[in-house]
Parts: sequence; C-alpha cells; structure tokens
Amino acid sequence: MSRKVIIAGNWKMNKTAAEGKALVEALKGLVADVPADKADIVVCPPFTTIAAVGEAIKGSNIKLGAQNIHWAANGAFTGEISADMLKELGVEYVIIGHSERRQYFGETDETVNKRVKAALAAGFTPIVCVGEMLEDRESGKTEKVLFTQLEGGLAGLSKEEMAKVVIAYEPVWAIGTGKTATPEVAEETHNFIRMTLNDMFGREIGEGVRIQYGGSMKAENAKELVAQRNIDGGLIGGAALVAESFSKLIHNALLG
Ligand code: PGA
Repeated sequence: MSRKVIIAGNWKMNKTAAEGKALVEALKGLVADVPADKADIVVCPPFTTIAAVGEAIKGSNIKLGAQNIHWAANGAFTGEISADMLKELGVEYVIIGHSERRQYFGETDETVNKRVKAALAAGFTPIVCVGEMLEDRESGKTEKVLFTQLEGGLAGLSKEEMAKVVIAYEPVWAIGTGKTATPEVAEETHNFIRMTLNDMFGREIGEGVRIQYGGSMKAENAKELVAQRNIDGGLIGGAALVAESFSKLIHNALLG
C-alpha cells in the first residue's frame, strides 16, 4: 500500500508571529516544487503565531497545524484552546500527546484520548505521538509502553475515525538529543506499531495509517528513514526552525 508522505514541523515554544511569518515566507518558495499529491507539508507554530503564519501560507502547498487542543467546546479551562478557535485560523492538523506534554504537563493516555476524539469530531487530522523513554528501551519495555499508549490514546475510535489519524513515533531519547534511531531500529518499532493498529482496527485500516518518525530527524537522515517500509514521514523539531534545513529535509525525504 502506498501512503502519502507527511512531514510536519513542530515549532514547539519557538517563533514570535513576526519570526514565524518570515520563516514560512522563505519556506514557501523553497517547497513550491513539491506536488501536493506527493507529500503533505505541515507547520505547527505556537498558538499566538498561528494566525500570522496562516495568512502567509495562503495559496501555498503548506498546511497549518497546532500543538494541542482541548476536548471541551469552551468554558473554564484557563490556558487551553478549543477546536473552534483553531478552525477559525485555518488549522487542519493537531499534534496530540507529544512527549514534552506527557513529561512536563501531566498529559496521560486518557487526556490524549479525549483530545483525539475532540479533534476528530471537529474535522482535524490528529497527529498522535507515542514513544518510549530511554530506560524503557534499555529494560526491554518499548513494545509494552507503545502498546499501552496506543490502546489508551486511541480507545473507542471507529475504523473510519482511525483512518484519519496520523501516528508519530518519537523515541524520547532521540528528541532534541542529536541521537536518531537507526533506520533499522525505527523500522522495527514502526512495524510493531502497525501490527498493533492492524490488531486493533483491522488490516485494511492499519495498513493505511501514516506513521511518522520523530527525534533528531534532519536533511542528512531523512531519505534513509523514509525509505523504510513503515516510515511515512517525519515530525520535525529543531530542523523545522530554519527554512533551508526544513526544505532540504522535505526534498530528501521524498527521495526515500
Ligand atoms: P527534534 O524534535 O527533531 O528536535 O528531535 C522532534 C519532536 O519533538 O517533535
């Protein structure tokens, strides 16, 4: 089954509105040659930068994402952002359950699941992050951890809903550390994730779900990673913050 490549830039807490606008103004020209049917190119700025970036990418092949979403429609949830607020700005993708949210902000599989359901109900494409810590990998618990995150985070989704979800596999030990999983290690884990999705939702759904790799992915390793059978793109932190490096990464990924 051929799955369309999806490369998403996770800007994390970087870029003011002015800086974000400048970044995508430069990026637009650099990726204009990437055909829309070959790859989805997504940028996920911080909330306060989304509007300016959304304006700047109008008419381009770059799509807009957010880094989180609350499950309630509105109400007393200080510091949170609702689906309608994101929709108004032209957001199409939402990163959910990033390991930094799990580690520093108390995100659990249960809250991930609520956010995923809210995102789907609003018509967004959720990018659901899973990944093990270094000690999990070293003690042979990677598969157990991933299974629990998938089972909890995707609980109660219908097949039709699951077909719209993107999974991002991000080994926590590889995020921002310069340590990338080797293509072989990443592929082995992506394969495990796909088998789990096949078990949960049936092969016809599992085989179609796009699974991104994330964790120190850059222009230099993008081709080899995306060349793997079960790696369908990337969720990019550091290398997405500079237009030239993000563009190079996208072009190299498409050679994989
Ligand atoms: P990194 O971050 O590319 O800087 O390692 C990836 C991520 O956390 O999404």
